[in-house]
Amino acid sequence: MAIQVPRGTYDVLPEQAAKWQAAEETIRELCRLYQYKEIRTPVFEQTELFQRSVGDTTDIVQKEMYTFTDRGDRSLTLRPEGTASVVRSYVENKLFGQPDQPVKLYYMGPMFRYERPQAGRTRQFVQFGVEAIGSKHPAVDAEVIALAMDVYTSLGLEKLKLVINSLGDTESRNAHRDALVTHFSPRIDEFCQDCQNRLEKNPLRILDCKVDRDHPLMGTAPALTAYLNEESAQYFSDVKQYLEELGIPYTVDPNLVRGLDYYNHTAFEIMSDAEGFGAITTLAGGGRYNGLVEDLGGPSSPGIGFAMSIERLLLALEMENVDIETADQLDVFVAVLDEDSRRDAFRLIRDFRDSGITADMDYAGRKLKAQMKAADRKGARFTIVLGETEIAEQRASVKDMATGESEQAAFSEMAGVLLNKISGEES
Ligand code: HAM
Repeated sequence: MAIQVPRGTYDVLPEQAAKWQAAEETIRELCRLYQYKEIRTPVFEQTELFQRSVGDTTDIVQKEMYTFTDRGDRSLTLRPEGTASVVRSYVENKLFGQPDQPVKLYYMGPMFRYERPQAGRTRQFVQFGVEAIGSKHPAVDAEVIALAMDVYTSLGLEKLKLVINSLGDTESRNAHRDALVTHFSPRIDEFCQDCQNRLEKNPLRILDCKVDRDHPLMGTAPALTAYLNEESAQYFSDVKQYLEELGIPYTVDPNLVRGLDYYNHTAFEIMSDAEGFGAITTLAGGGRYNGLVEDLGGPSSPGIGFAMSIERLLLALEMENVDIETADQLDVFVAVLDEDSRRDAFRLIRDFRDSGITADMDYAGRKLKAQMKAADRKGARFTIVLGETEIAEQRASVKDMATGESEQAAFSEMAGVLLNKISGEES
């Protein structure tokens, strides 16, 4: 059988890639406005990094990691997410020593999880994420959430839902943890083996279980919000106030549990409300991780961030029928009547490209009619036809494909004429 792309992965073909680029550009521009700077970390890390941060009892670490032993007998893992790597780098490069905290970082790159593939869920996906590390001010939580929302709204999405929750600090979480153990213990044998293991190690994970989702004890489980101590409740209320300050609507969901262990205080997800989205509607997720830097060997530095996959972003745009504008339009196609004209055409398109005009020509030796059809398929705004006469006179006519109008110009002035027409059209 012919070799195929591995299960859960896909090729991004040129037409789709143009949309990726447009989305990436919007994202980078927003990061510039918000002053988040790019960080690039390796695609693989020591396995222990994810065990210690994402957490030993999570689905990601237990079932979904691409882990391998390299030739030097080290256990390495293709990163399943970006936060662990960014925090590792923050500690390793002593970014906590920089005078301006929080350090505001963003990343965009492939992540890998061995999950059951379906619409919106692949085994390799590209995450855009941000991390603001070094401040525990509630305004930072609101800023991070605002940036995530801005990505979607500035690309034209409208059917969005922001859900937030507070997981509280360690004291609140311990109180909640005890309540969960009391709640589930009497009937834990009705739950899957994973949940039975989770009961002692990390009962919060039970709420996130896909197998026992419909068990009656799930709906009646004690909510975290009821166990927030005063400081945590105040923090949550401050975050909400900052969101209101920015006019960002939200819903509080006391059952929102994230699938990674490092979170405390603010947790949030952005969902799509668009019809036909299928089972997976979460577009982005994030939250605060105040103990993580310390857990990974750094000083106490609180952090918050989120991540979203570009795949789900593009899916949401499709579901809402939003056409994302791509920037790869062909300005001019130069057709030739004979082989001799090809050299001049070749020089001419070089001239155009030097002037920033997108230009192309025929390389298949096709007849004029076929060349013009190709120009049309490529969506050329202008065409130029070169033959014996044009070469002899060193001038030709530039045809506007939309209006059918033509204008003569000397080869030496052609780029300028085209530039004028293009800028005239755009203004
Ligand atoms: P996460 O909720 O595991 O959080 O993933 C964040 C986002 O990544 C999801 O909302 C979704 O858009 C995308 N995603 C996850 N798995 C897949 C998949 N298999 N296929 C397609 N897209 C996927 C994190 O990864 C945290 N590191 C987020 C964070 C950053 N928290 C704080 N800072």
